[in-house]
Amino acid sequence: MSQDITTEFADRMLSLGLARVSEAAAIASAKLIGRGDEKAADQAAVNAMREQLNLLDIRGVVVIGEGERDEAPMLFIGEEVGSGAGPEVDIALDPLEGTTLTAKDMPNALTVIAMGPRGSLLHAPDVYMDKLAIGPGYPDGLVDLDMSVTERVRALAAAKGAAPGDVKVCVLERPRHDAIVRELREVGAQIRLITDGDVAGVIHCAEPELTGIDMYMGAGGAPEGVLAAAALKCMGGQIQGRLLFRDDDERGRAAKAGITELNRKYSRDDMVTADVIFAATGVTDGSILPGLKRRGGYVETETILMRSRTGSVRRLRYRTREL
Ligand code: FBP
Repeated sequence: MSQDITTEFADRMLSLGLARVSEAAAIASAKLIGRGDEKAADQAAVNAMREQLNLLDIRGVVVIGEGERDEAPMLFIGEEVGSGAGPEVDIALDPLEGTTLTAKDMPNALTVIAMGPRGSLLHAPDVYMDKLAIGPGYPDGLVDLDMSVTERVRALAAAKGAAPGDVKVCVLERPRHDAIVRELREVGAQIRLITDGDVAGVIHCAEPELTGIDMYMGAGGAPEGVLAAAALKCMGGQIQGRLLFRDDDERGRAAKAGITELNRKYSRDDMVTADVIFAATGVTDGSILPGLKRRGGYVETETILMRSRTGSVRRLRYRTREL
């Protein structure tokens, strides 16, 4: 990336604005925690995120968003956001990552947004992606999507100087992952099964001493894969992803997104090709972020705000009067 693009991106200046966007979505969706209405929770987050994004001095385009234009009235892929002044940026967002977690008041629901210079974020179609992630400090390519589950666990255990039984792997609990879970059990690894929220699942790997998770694997949303790659680019760690297509409609979505090599294995830096900023705010309590709290007429949030250029990771606690 040329110095000019980096300078124009102004990541340092924009990062606080990004935290505000993420906070606003969390505050709006938290009103719907435990109310059994996933759609309403998501819509509240979308409205708030969009309103705040449009206050930022950027010429933004949503590349990972709520869906295709005909499916999503707001924050659809290709929507232009921002005040129209300022740098040209790509935006990846998930206003509420864990709509079901929010509706059921379960842990680890987050609001998530990442921003990079125009052209820096993979336009991942809304299909599944096979994902494999580990935290920082390991040699490049230590584990690979083309390895078996057993090989991945053994390679990571050896690099940790530990036994396979000391490796903990996070997996989305889905029937499609039965074979992965079986093989993990056979090799003796520990498994953290999560019901939803694989952006948080991947982020867990970046802080194994806090979360206890060493590796993430399995198929989840491709858009979430790009968001997770942005987070790991800031925190350190590796992720690989390969798009999975179930039918021609899904292959058509890839074509629409400009993807021609359907079987490509994407590295973290293939998904996020330049420096990014990333913000996530806790909605419900989780192992990465505490959820939103209400006390004495105030709401309190915690946001993780990160810049890949410097590797800076801030945790911002925010309190505001409840409106
Ligand atoms: P939503 O919050 O959009 O519902 O996504 C939650 C999620 O668990 C993602 O984290 C994950 O990538 C995807 O859904 C998995 O999809 P599926 O539920 O179809 O297995």
